[in-house]
Amino acid sequence: MKAVVVYESLWGNTAAVAHAIAEGIGPEARALSTSEATRDQVVGADLIVAGAPVLGFGLPTEGMRNNLGPHEKKAPSPPDLSKPSLRSWLQKLPVGSAHAASFETRIWWSPGGATKTIDREFARTGYRPAAKRERFVVTGTYGPLREGELDRARAWGARLARAVQ
Ligand SMILES: Cc1cc2nc3c(=O)[nH]c(=O)nc-3n(C[C@H](O)[C@H](O)[C@H](O)COP(=O)(O)O)c2cc1C
Repeated sequence: MKAVVVYESLWGNTAAVAHAIAEGIGPEARALSTSEATRDQVVGADLIVAGAPVLGFGLPTEGMRNNLGPHEKKAPSPPDLSKPSLRSWLQKLPVGSAHAASFETRIWWSPGGATKTIDREFARTGYRPAAKRERFVVTGTYGPLREGELDRARAWGARLARAVQ
């Protein structure tokens, strides 16, 4: 089964979860940033998983991303804004009928979330839900991931693979 796990990640938490999910899915799964996940990578995939951090209670917007740099003085590193947002990546997603699933990284108590928008874009372009959306939790504004979250991500990847096969 060919699977692609696409992610937006500004401080690396979502990227780490995406790689763990791909590991859990199996050897034919690849975790790719929004710049690596080209049309050729997506077309022909049996499963597309997409994930992003929750920023400002939702899937990051261009406006939020543009405002991040100067305001993030407490961040351990500057945000990686070199790759397109998942929001813009989804807008260019070719129509398809593969299975799809969404995940987000977030603080446990926050309202809102990113996965609703991701799922809506998948549905708009014809993709079929493989599983209910999943959340992975960080312990501070910029991370790190809560202990055990990468194991949970691997297990979720394995469940996705079973659901699609
Ligand atoms: C400016 C900013 C806004 C955030 N807003 C939210 C939020 O509304 N809800 C939430 O649960 N987490 C929020 N977070 C926490 C991030 O979602 C979390 O750190 C995420 O794991 C970052 O992922 P990344 O390292 O892949 O970029 C925010 C973090 C920052 C820096």
